[in-house]
Amino acid sequence: MKSLVLTVTLFCLLAVVQAQDDLPFLSEDRNMSGIWYHKAIVNDLNITELRPMKIQKFPLVVRALQKGNMEVTLTFLHNGECVQLEFLMEKIEKPGLYKAVWDTLLTYIYELPVLDHYVFYSECKLIDGKFYVAELIGKDLNENRQALEEFKKFIQLKGFPPENIIVPEQREMCVPKVHNAAPQNCKSQANSVSNA
Ligand SMILES: *[C@@H]1O[C@H](CO)[C@@H](O)[C@H](O)[C@H]1NC(C)=O
Ligand SMILES: *[C@@H]1O[C@H](CO)[C@@H](O)[C@H](O)[C@H]1NC(C)=O
Repeated sequence: MKSLVLTVTLFCLLAVVQAQDDLPFLSEDRNMSGIWYHKAIVNDLNITELRPMKIQKFPLVVRALQKGNMEVTLTFLHNGECVQLEFLMEKIEKPGLYKAVWDTLLTYIYELPVLDHYVFYSECKLIDGKFYVAELIGKDLNENRQALEEFKKFIQLKGFPPENIIVPEQREMCVPKVHNAAPQNCKSQANSVSNA
């Protein structure tokens, strides 16, 4: 009996401690529209050989849509060419939770107690398993130690290996090449016309 009480007490204590340590979810009325920067990234993959890995990141463009949904534009280099990928992050019933890319990506967005800093915590499903990624997202490029410290606390709580943290090199936005999907063709052609 005594040990049961102790177990229950411990369990409750742990629950309380975790609830206090976990960050609040993105509030429903927050409009994330705008440009964001990846300030730190961590994954839980065991890829010792690839460490320390250098990565370059382009700004992330978010457009808040109706019903809490967001359109996210990712920019990256593929074979040295600028590629932009637009996708919908669909708000689902659970607080802070979004899904994208046919449910292969589930993302929780958390608010940090530091102005204009958020954490995207994602579960990526692969055919033979899944892995987790957490990203510290900020509204400007200035180094923010407090945000980084809070991010480190968060990823420790979620069980990420701290040695996997990468601070990416920031790249300026590039203009995608013409052979991309149709809507992007129009945009980049419009850009080159207006630049001409
Ligand atoms: C990570 O990989 C190394 C070598 O491949 C292995 O020895 C180690 O046990 C792995 N760690 C985990 C947590 O899977
Ligand atoms: C979010 O703000 C942008 C302007 O910053 C506005 O165009 C957009 O309609 C807003 N979205 C929502 C869902 O309120």
